[in-house]
Amino acid sequence: MRPNRPNGFGARGPKNSPPAQDATPGLAARLAAAHAIADVLSSAHPLEERAGAGDGEGRYAGLEARERALARSIATVSFRRLGTIRKALGRFLEKGLPRRAGALEWILIAAAAQLLFLDVPDHAAVDLAVRAARLDPGAAPFASLVNAVLRNLARAREEVLSAADPLDDDTPHWLAQRWRANYGEATARQIARAHRDEPTLDLSVKSDAEGWARRLGGVVLPTGSVRLESHVAIAELDGYAAGEWWVQDAAAALPARLLGAGAGLRVVDFCAAPGGKSAELALAGASVTAVDRSAERLKRLAANFERLRLEADIVVSNALSFEGAPFDAALIDAPCLATGTIRRHPDVAWIKRQGDLPALVELQSRLLDKAVALTKPGGTIVYCACSLEPEEGEGQIAALMRRNPDARRIPIVREEIGGLSECLNAAGELRTLPCHLQGPTPRLSGLDGFFAARLQRRP
Ligand SMILES: C[S@@+](CC[C@H](N)C(=O)[O-])C[C@H]1O[C@@H](n2cnc3c(N)ncnc32)[C@H](O)[C@@H]1O
Repeated sequence: MRPNRPNGFGARGPKNSPPAQDATPGLAARLAAAHAIADVLSSAHPLEERAGAGDGEGRYAGLEARERALARSIATVSFRRLGTIRKALGRFLEKGLPRRAGALEWILIAAAAQLLFLDVPDHAAVDLAVRAARLDPGAAPFASLVNAVLRNLARAREEVLSAADPLDDDTPHWLAQRWRANYGEATARQIARAHRDEPTLDLSVKSDAEGWARRLGGVVLPTGSVRLESHVAIAELDGYAAGEWWVQDAAAALPARLLGAGAGLRVVDFCAAPGGKSAELALAGASVTAVDRSAERLKRLAANFERLRLEADIVVSNALSFEGAPFDAALIDAPCLATGTIRRHPDVAWIKRQGDLPALVELQSRLLDKAVALTKPGGTIVYCACSLEPEEGEGQIAALMRRNPDARRIPIVREEIGGLSECLNAAGELRTLPCHLQGPTPRLSGLDGFFAARLQRRP
């Protein structure tokens, strides 16, 4: 199916529907999901930002908890399996997607996601999609087409599902090509396969990981994070309000510890918000300067620190223009394509572009040079990025070694990362992949894709 341009309600529609004229149970959740899909694909802004992370903002605002959970499931699985969904719809849209059809594409995607991947009765998915189409002036003339396409799709479900390929169908072509070239066919397939399963939550706990795993129903990973068995509303969990833990993927919990921060160490975190890694540094006793250019994101860092009862000096600044007395250590969690987070944020695969890479690579290398310059001779620097793209990881450090004689690599050893030797490369750099750390079930398996290297400013 040819992707539609943003001519549906995604671009201009009312901010928070459900429409008053049809109060059919379940319709509001379907409309919210279709709105969210439209918003993300037409704006290239992340789903969490457009739909709201569950705090009453964005497209899911005004929905009751159950409806919000359903809207969230529909939108998330729509992105996780967007390639399969579009290909399947394309089979039954014999003349392609009609032009000037308003929100038709988004309504079809949301309905197909339910038919193919969610435990929703077929008649509910189809009927509510037809109702949604009738409410949209552009899509209304195609309401019977919606009905026919979705009924055909429901009949072909088993065949569609068995033919779907994680790498060829559910990964954008340019990313599949990159992963094949950079990791080889077998690993590229394992990465794409790992993206199919929604991971549960990982927590970084202040102390007593075993105790929190028991209390919250989880397991302690070899790296020390607690992995919960199921995906739950975090604010209701024991220990959240008391600030005993924070949510952070197990791979994201590794880079900060590589600094060896302890009491009295002055550390600058150059891209700090919303603060997961700064929190680890502060918890270790370091005196943390948390820098980020986004005041909005730093507000979240401040709130997280308040809940966790941790302290940091919070500075809104472009790190490239930040000045201060040299630090003992520096952390750069670089802005990047974020392709390592597709498991948790499947929309990332569809909103990032290969063309975004050169500007990010340039910014990352300037951030690295700045960090070396602002670290005392003999001090430690950790560079990391939640990206699977080597230009933002291995290539970035190789280039630094060539251009900056002040920096040298200090290899990471397996004991520092819970013995996960599969996550270390020959240069002693951390490279985690979504297919690493296999657990007893797919939901309990995997890591975000992260790169990290430890450097020293030469004494
Ligand atoms: C990957 S996120 C950081 C996540 C954070 N370290 C954590 O663990 O929660 C990257 C951050 O870099 C910030 N950023 C991007 N360019 C920047 C710059 N030139 N100076 C400072 N911060 C920047 C973004 O606002 C964003 O918050």
